[in-house]
Amino acid sequence: MTESERGDAPVSTLGGFTLRRGIASQGCHAVYQGEDSSGGLVAIRAVCLDAHEDLRQRLDTELVSLTRLAGAGPAPAVIADGQNAKLQYLVTQWLPGQTWRAYRKMPDVEVHRLFAGAASALAALHRGGVAHGDLSDNNIVVDDDYTVRFVDFESSVVPDAPPPSGVFPHGSPGGSLRRSSSLPR
Ligand SMILES: Nc1ncnc2c1ncn2[C@@H]1O[C@H](COP(=O)(O)OP(=O)(O)O)[C@@H](O)[C@H]1O
Ligand SMILES: [Mg+2]
Repeated sequence: MTESERGDAPVSTLGGFTLRRGIASQGCHAVYQGEDSSGGLVAIRAVCLDAHEDLRQRLDTELVSLTRLAGAGPAPAVIADGQNAKLQYLVTQWLPGQTWRAYRKMPDVEVHRLFAGAASALAALHRGGVAHGDLSDNNIVVDDDYTVRFVDFESSVVPDAPPPSGVFPHGSPGGSLRRSSSLPR
């Protein structure tokens, strides 16, 4: 996402969270590491309001799945969601560790522990009622103790998601819960 795509001025805060560094961006969609008012790390995913509907739908899909998981087990908790004049955004916990891609290249990595951690995390995810849908090695985060968690739920599916209510106010966890990729629109 370029500054001109986001607006006239560079974005340095979103929804009261400070953007520390951009991690990934593609077109009018970006992921940042950010900070809350106490200096705690958060992940912020932002999409331009005028981006293709599919991109915004993917952000909603992530919100539906993470809300369903409610921070339990192998996924980040939703901290806030909302929008400003230009952007729709989702703020989640920042997960400690490194991506699977980086972790598996570390010297002395215990491969059996790594795969056992992945299997257990995946089982917990599915018990929580969510299929990830995009399990690439950059969407898996491994902590120092081989605890495995997942990020990037934009392609996820909640097979038995209830119909969206759309009644939550923006700015609260689950605030823009409107639709899921698993539901007809
Ligand atoms: N909650 C999080 N905690 C820790 N790292 C994260 C988190 N969310 C994203 N990341 C990091 O940012 C990268 C890009 O985020 P991701 O959600 O996968 O975006 P993209 O849609 O661009 O693949 C991930 O590969 C991971 O390294
Ligand atoms: Mg990803």
